[in-house]
Amino acid sequence: MDRGGGGIMNHLLTTEDLDRATLEELLADADEFSEVLNRPIPKVPALRGKTIATMFFEPSTRTKMSFDKAAKALSADTMAFSASTSSLSKGESLKDTALTVRAMGVDLMVVRHGATGAPWRLAEWLDIPIVNAGDGAHQHPTQALLDCLTIKQRFGSLDGLRIAIVGDIKHSRVARSDIFAMATLGAEVILVGPPTLLPLDTEGWPVKTTTDLDGVLETVDVVYLLRVQLERGGGSVFPSLPEYTARYGMTNERFSRLKDDAIVMHPGPMNRGVEIAHEVADDHRALILAQVTNGVAARMAVLFHLLGGESNE
Ligand code: NCD
Repeated sequence: MDRGGGGIMNHLLTTEDLDRATLEELLADADEFSEVLNRPIPKVPALRGKTIATMFFEPSTRTKMSFDKAAKALSADTMAFSASTSSLSKGESLKDTALTVRAMGVDLMVVRHGATGAPWRLAEWLDIPIVNAGDGAHQHPTQALLDCLTIKQRFGSLDGLRIAIVGDIKHSRVARSDIFAMATLGAEVILVGPPTLLPLDTEGWPVKTTTDLDGVLETVDVVYLLRVQLERGGGSVFPSLPEYTARYGMTNERFSRLKDDAIVMHPGPMNRGVEIAHEVADDHRALILAQVTNGVAARMAVLFHLLGGESNE
């Protein structure tokens, strides 16, 4: 990590504009940060003196804590904004909230917001790097990085892998980010779901689509399951959850038909018993907790790049 000052991007808003070299570089750095996180003292001084604000206008467990841990492991200071306890309830606008936090002396903002495009607005209003931690059903680029890191660690490369992304694609920012990152890294991506949960228009997306999970199950290397996003209307477009499970759930029976070295992934939070059977979720070929672990290293790589940090190691 000899690059310092500047970095290779100004913001991380989407995976659509990340080229292969940039993705590879972020993943290589994330790999090195994974090693840092396994040391007795899992910390490097790379971002000492920098302040990172996490601005979450939507609920989050793993993404918010993961960014916090990533910032601290780089020796940055952190500030957390939480919508439920803020002056938003007094009617303060997104712009005024962001400018207020910026005025306290913040070097980078991590933003999750229910509205598509909110992080792009912040990038216009503020003079600091913005990281999109999820905007509506649109993009969640750091999730894609940690997913690609997890796959790369298991298979060595994404080149030529067949990856099925299964379920509520329509409402999934995870899918929209994963598709572009995985395809850019050489994987073949197949979107699988009921017609009502597949996007209306996938023109320009580097994917194939099918409604038949059983038809592709035995040929794929990765099955990436998505949560049915009940809060974004995902539950209203098929007859019942048991029906969804019968056609698209990773049941024990379907799991037994996967290739021997195929893996199962899920971004969390899981609906156990709906899109994934309890036993599958706890199987060693389900890499769901490895994804969470990798989230910290992947986010360290992003923060490091955007703040132009220099590692002493
Ligand atoms: C995802 C999200 O919020 O987009 N969760 C996450 O960040 N790991 C997926 C989801 O909520 O289903």
